[in-house]
Amino acid sequence: MSYLLGLDIGTSAVKCILISKDGSIIGSSSEEYPLSTPYPGWTEQDPDKWWKATEKTIKNLLNISKINPEEIKGISLSGQMHSSVFLDENLEIIRPAILWSDTRTSKQCDYIYAKVGGINNLINYVSNPALEGFTAPKILWLRENEPENYKKLRHVLLPKDYIRFKLTGELYTDVSDAAGTLMFNVEKKEWSKGLLEELDIDPNILPPVLESQDIAGEIIASVANETGLKEGTSVVAGGADQSCGAIGSGIVKEGRVMVSLGTSGVVLAQTNSPVADEQGRIHLFNYSKPNSWYMMGVMLSAGMSYQWLKKKMYADNLDFSKLNELAGSVAAGSEGLVFLPYLFGERTPHADADARGVFFGISDKHSQGHFIRSVMEGVTFGLRDSLTLIKEKGIEINEVRVIGGGAKSQVWQQILADIFGEEICLLNVEEGPAFGAAVIAGVGTGVYESFEHAEANIIKVVKRIKPDPERHELYNKIYNIYRNLYPTLKSNFKDLAQVNKDCL
Ligand code: XUL
Repeated sequence: MSYLLGLDIGTSAVKCILISKDGSIIGSSSEEYPLSTPYPGWTEQDPDKWWKATEKTIKNLLNISKINPEEIKGISLSGQMHSSVFLDENLEIIRPAILWSDTRTSKQCDYIYAKVGGINNLINYVSNPALEGFTAPKILWLRENEPENYKKLRHVLLPKDYIRFKLTGELYTDVSDAAGTLMFNVEKKEWSKGLLEELDIDPNILPPVLESQDIAGEIIASVANETGLKEGTSVVAGGADQSCGAIGSGIVKEGRVMVSLGTSGVVLAQTNSPVADEQGRIHLFNYSKPNSWYMMGVMLSAGMSYQWLKKKMYADNLDFSKLNELAGSVAAGSEGLVFLPYLFGERTPHADADARGVFFGISDKHSQGHFIRSVMEGVTFGLRDSLTLIKEKGIEINEVRVIGGGAKSQVWQQILADIFGEEICLLNVEEGPAFGAAVIAGVGTGVYESFEHAEANIIKVVKRIKPDPERHELYNKIYNIYRNLYPTLKSNFKDLAQVNKDCL
């Protein structure tokens, strides 16, 4: 038998999954680790905790699955994007990793724009805007705020690249993770010498860049002893979690879109050429499938808005089936109640840390079901914003595949179809990025001929939900109102943030 092992170094846990060639899940194991927030807006993690958790999950998985480790043909990795691991000359960790969700670098982002002469020049270098979570501003933050640590800095790695280094002893990254650092020329697939020079960042601290499917090393003896894996097992480069999630959802040709309705919300479309948005409203990154790219919109609180409502507004007294029943009992449009899902600020299409959630149009006829439904609708309007940007860039969409916890709700599935005006497809696999990493391991080691071959054999659409034309018409009207609300409120969000800061 041929087995493939996929690892996902997530923000709350590492997940390890073992699949057979036909895509069946043999077993999975996961291990959580803590996240520290030393100051408001800071999020950090100890890379050593990722590593200990990784060793443990691999060991557990091998124990429960009882397979012969010799039959594992390849291992690959997916991981949280943008987060920075800082290493010294002895390859030791200098300080905790600064995560993708950390917002301490606003000043450094402003500096980047000032240094390069504005957004257009930055897009020319790296195809993306300067966002607080990305890697380059974190390096600048270290230089400015922790000069002693910066002096020691010899290597900057992404989380999955650090774990791959522990597995193989080799330092690499892959195109899909390099793209999220804001230091990579996404069009040419190389580190952006021009931007690194402008920012005075030494290119030698960045690792060589592989394609996701390239073999990046093999399991070393000490790891084999500790985990039970076979020494010499091939380790394939792997990719950014969103890229791996899309591979695991069968996004293998232009026209297919993945919508992920998890804690955050993602709309991702493969593209055959690098088309950046000149205002940087949507990300453009290199994809794990060679010679292709993806456009991606990220909403910070998608499922999170729903969880917030459940926990904070309804004190967890309503379970998910009751929430769905209440939402389903309300007519499309929530009788005029419109929700803006910006609980933590937003990334796409409004990169605005000060934006906040809004219920607009409340009247005395509104009750629990209206609020629940309008949260589902508001989040879906936010996803439609990303879909609209992708369409505006000339990508013709012919299949929308939905994954993530929110996609389990039938009410929400129909809302997605109706608001998008597109058929929505559900899949046989819901394992996310770790599954995609296992597929990449299979392509890299020749178990699958190609990503298309893997997809055709293991990923299937199991349900299609059609939009209702009348509801779509109604939603178009409400979407126009939704779109007008943010620009109207933008300066108020800023003022409110200032008042809140002053009160601290
Ligand atoms: C993508 C992003 C998040 C992290 C979370 O740009 O910031 O999806 O990768 O894991």
